Amino acid sequence: MKLPRCSPAWLSRRLAWPAGALAAALLCFGLAACDAPGSAMSAADGLSVPTSSKDGQAGGQTRAQVYEAVRQKTALGKQLFFDPSLSGSGKQACATCHSPAHAFGPPNALDVQLGGADMRQPGFRAVPTLKYLQSVPAFTEHFHDSDDEGDESIDNGPTGGLTWDGRVDTGAEQARIPLLSPFEMHSSPAHVASAVRAAPYADAFRAAFGAHVLDDDRAAFDAVLEAIGIFEQTPGTFYPYTSKYDAYLAGRTTLTPAEQRGLQLFDDERKGNCASCHLSKPARDGSPPQFSDFGLIAVGVPRNRALKVNQDPRFFDLGACGPERTDLKGRDEYCGLFRTPTLRNVALRKTFFHNGIYHSLEEVMRFYAERDTNPEKFYPVVKGKVRKFDDLPERYWANLNTDPPFDRKPGDKPALNETEIKDIIAFLNTLTDGYEPDAPVAGHEAAPRSSDREPALTSAGSL
Ligand code: HEC
Ligand code: HEC
Repeated sequence: MKLPRCSPAWLSRRLAWPAGALAAALLCFGLAACDAPGSAMSAADGLSVPTSSKDGQAGGQTRAQVYEAVRQKTALGKQLFFDPSLSGSGKQACATCHSPAHAFGPPNALDVQLGGADMRQPGFRAVPTLKYLQSVPAFTEHFHDSDDEGDESIDNGPTGGLTWDGRVDTGAEQARIPLLSPFEMHSSPAHVASAVRAAPYADAFRAAFGAHVLDDDRAAFDAVLEAIGIFEQTPGTFYPYTSKYDAYLAGRTTLTPAEQRGLQLFDDERKGNCASCHLSKPARDGSPPQFSDFGLIAVGVPRNRALKVNQDPRFFDLGACGPERTDLKGRDEYCGLFRTPTLRNVALRKTFFHNGIYHSLEEVMRFYAERDTNPEKFYPVVKGKVRKFDDLPERYWANLNTDPPFDRKPGDKPALNETEIKDIIAFLNTLTDGYEPDAPVAGHEAAPRSSDREPALTSAGSL
């Protein structure tokens, strides 16, 4: 059965973020906006361009009141996101790891970031970008999408959810993880509540969530999670679609020959085949490409022996089947699977893959091109024998992806040569937000950009 676009079921299937007041406001008022190109994006943009509803009332609130509540909670969520006092150490905010200057990804080239009470506890996964998460669907074991040649009966397998293993579905739920993690913010609901009571925004917090919200640690903590989840849905900040590639798709600029060749190689099923997972074309409904189909896939990334957890030879980060995710434990077909990340803004990163093993796009590209033709370049060689897929026990190898460029064997020609790798990287560089098609010449005023609608993040980002 095909769900009508914009039915609540369609929305909740489509979005990993339906929990917040934003979604509530959208369900009440913004549905008409869903029919416009851009699904989640235009739905959220419906906030800034209110559409008329029959009576302008929802749950006793006027449209203006709903929008004002979302605005207040967004502003609070932003302050919370940048506030290190929420952490046990008093030194770490969300923004410490999710740097606004790096598309809310890691600010440095460390494999994994440090946190905890003494700020010296290492995690074991690379920090993902927080941009373009609005289009991640809620986790499902069987994803059917009408974008597959119009055939909804095609099962794309496990898809969606937030974090590398898709274990939570909303920004609010997710925020609980780093706040309580012993190697991240190492906090507690009680500590978070007392930090908010002492914060300069305590009164604004009561105004937005109720006069007594800070009297109860649990209620205060839940409100903090909600506000952060709402902030993460701010369109201009988190999904502005201002890359050169977006301008190119809109016909406002052209790609250089190298970028154009890179795009072709990226799309070509016999070459990079990248677009089979990192979607590069607008969806059938016209929404811009997210550069991920959000599928959970095993690509067999080498073990990162620099990680502390990996000093134990029995430890394996198996992604969807554990250890962080627990509901699919014992389901062998989920072992080694990690959610395909978006490649938007990937050129701003210095750490790649779930375990942070690589530090340049060149290294990542060579892995794709030569994983199967020259495995000795990536995996340990013991007594002359390559130990391929050394971060995944052999009983799970059936889960590994073998689509091009992973369809080769030693002796075959790699799918991409060095020139082609350079071209793909040139193309990946067009996916960075903030491109200005008509770059102003000195002395001329720049045209206002969509992100100017929101307050600059750098002010709060002085950590
Ligand atoms: C110590 C570094 C660190 C801090 C601090 C931190 N994060 Fe993260 N964040 C990570 C890592 C690592 C992951 C991936 C976790 C995983 O896959 O298990 C992640 C994942 C996420 C995701 C999921 C992204 C995706 O692609 O699905 C969101 C959303 C997020 N963090 C938001 C936050 C918020 C909100 C805060 C503050 C409350 C925060 N983070 C604090 C390191 C950090
Ligand atoms: C079969 C699906 C698939 C194909 C094909 C594919 N990727 Fe990926 N890509 C993934 C998955 C899954 C990950 C995360 C793997 C992990 O960390 O374990 C990933 C990660 C990446 C990353 C690291 C991003 C980050 O934030 O760490 C880059 C860069 C990347 N892919 C680029 C490409 C390029 C370029 C191609 C084509 C040459 C390509 N991918 C082909 C699924 C795919």
